[in-house]
Amino acid sequence: MKQIGQLISFEGIDGAGKSTHIAFTQEVLAQRGIDVITTREPGGTPLGESLRELLLQEKMHLETEALLMFAARREHIAQVIEPALNQGLWVITDRFTDASFAYQGGGRHLDLKKLETLERWVHPQLQPKLTFLFDLPIAVARSRLDATRNLDKFEQEQAQFFEDTRNEYLRRAEQFSQRFRVIDSSREIALIQTEIRHHLDLLLRSLDHHD
Ligand code: ADP
Ligand code: TYD
Repeated sequence: MKQIGQLISFEGIDGAGKSTHIAFTQEVLAQRGIDVITTREPGGTPLGESLRELLLQEKMHLETEALLMFAARREHIAQVIEPALNQGLWVITDRFTDASFAYQGGGRHLDLKKLETLERWVHPQLQPKLTFLFDLPIAVARSRLDATRNLDKFEQEQAQFFEDTRNEYLRRAEQFSQRFRVIDSSREIALIQTEIRHHLDLLLRSLDHHD
């Protein structure tokens, strides 16, 4: 069967468990015979990774931050995401445009209309087929962050920033309920994995029916 490539995004505040479950998702899809690449934002290309360095370390105007996020995303889509999908590969991305709405819109209060304009410019058609939103109380996420490493610019923000970010993620999950799957990430890993596997199998079944 010729697979049609699908884009799956992983979202959530820092420490929510995205990395942990991306590795698991990759394994499940590989077991189902699906070729998958994993990538991340900001980043995913050499230019994008340079922009990531700036974005995670340098203080800047909130609109500069949003524009650089979308600049990195434009490159990522052109160099990585679209070519992979066109070859029939599945793409798992650690964050996509929902993160801009949540962090720059929710966390930093940038006008959502400006973000919508950038989204229409950078990817008027493309949307993830599935978006896993890992949701948990801010204090729990924070307690999971590795205490031994230096926190980046975002991770150093106050609790209110993450409350606003989390709320904007949850608002979008309601608005785009067809593609969002909200995962209660305060539970133990094994339970979360069972739920993810279930959602992936439902997606695969629905795609089979459309062949
Ligand atoms: P993110 O990529 O969203 O920042 P990670 O996947 O790196 O988050 O998880 C942050 C930390 O929390 C890691 O040490 C990970 O092992 C741990 N972790 C992830 N999910 C859970 C869970 N459900 N219960 C307990 N610890 C978890
Ligand atoms: P992430 O890769 O999750 O960081 P880490 O490797 O430490 O887990 O994401 C980097 C940071 O960038 C994260 O704090 C969220 C932020 N971010 C935005 O603010 N807007 C965006 O559009 C994206 C993609 C990320």
